[in-house]
Amino acid sequence: MKRVYNFSAGPSMLPEAVLRRAADEMLDYQGSGQSVMEMSHRSKVYEGIINSAESLLREVMNIPDNYKVLFLQGGASSQFAMVPMNLMTKSNKADFVITGQWATKAYKEAARYGTANIVASSKDQTFNYIPELDPSTFTKDADYFHICLNNTIYGTKFTQLPETGDVPLVADISSCILSEPIDVSKFGILYAGAQKNMGPAGLTVVIIREDLVGNAMDITPTMFNYQTHVDNGSMFNTPPCYSIYMCMLVLDWIKNTMGGLDEMKKYNEKKAAILYDYLDSSKMFRGTVVAKDRSLMNIPFVTDSEDLNAKFVKEAAANDFVNLKGHRSVGGMRASIYNAMPMEGVEKLVAFMKKFEEENA
Ligand SMILES: Cc1ncc(COP(=O)(O)O)c(C=O)c1O
Repeated sequence: MKRVYNFSAGPSMLPEAVLRRAADEMLDYQGSGQSVMEMSHRSKVYEGIINSAESLLREVMNIPDNYKVLFLQGGASSQFAMVPMNLMTKSNKADFVITGQWATKAYKEAARYGTANIVASSKDQTFNYIPELDPSTFTKDADYFHICLNNTIYGTKFTQLPETGDVPLVADISSCILSEPIDVSKFGILYAGAQKNMGPAGLTVVIIREDLVGNAMDITPTMFNYQTHVDNGSMFNTPPCYSIYMCMLVLDWIKNTMGGLDEMKKYNEKKAAILYDYLDSSKMFRGTVVAKDRSLMNIPFVTDSEDLNAKFVKEAAANDFVNLKGHRSVGGMRASIYNAMPMEGVEKLVAFMKKFEEENA
């Protein structure tokens, strides 16, 4: 059996211990005589899985009791519409910080339902920094304020949250959920697709403050109304059963193997520093992001030559470092090093980069 180091932005690596446990439980989940993929979502045994996934998420993320946890489908992309449909109902206005493609998509979708206002953008520098925010420019009576906390494509992250006062802060945390602790109480809604740090694609997690549920626009489809899913414990329809089960295993791994999110953060900081330190010292490769806004999860880098970039990506893949090509909109390289990327994966990548630099100097 061969396992590669997969630097994909998502879907991405899962912890090997989780995959092994899933394999062990594949044919007969805990004496039920069936795989989790085959069982009714209404069965007692599956109820145990979804309840355990929720309680582990609450424990690991320290989610306050006045927040609901929803296991939905449709990806983070569905939240770009679901958030305005449920929240943009009082002043019909919302504020956006444009830090990349995903933030732009959230903005464009909201603009279909109300007044979407851009308070700041880093488009002028191909989104390689997080713009300074001036609270006096925020819309005082906005129904929400949206940010993308970690920008997967450009490799930036917010290190300071905007001061939005009573306006609910909504964040897309698809590419940083579970990578470090987050103070959930500072947010109205947090949402994330699972396929980076939580499990396989197909599951979208929404964490929503209770008072934000129940105000949806009349036009909101039943499936897009948070109330529907709150009322039915994420079981209004068939949930993404297997992805929720895998998420439960990943959460168990974070809690019991990695030691929780404080430890996960230390591990991720150490791991990212190995690559950033090398990029800062290399004469061939350099990171593209302003140092203070660097992501722990997604690290874009370039050489000065397109040919050299292409050669590097090709040779890296031949050496089992796969998916290092940058996003099609920016080019260059990007190493996504989510929770499940082991320290040795980054150490070996850097050793390979050093060798490549020597050979191609
Ligand atoms: C920050 C961010 N938001 C949203 C998305 C879109 O997620 P989905 O494919 O789950 O709709 C992605 C996907 O990579 C992402 O990185």
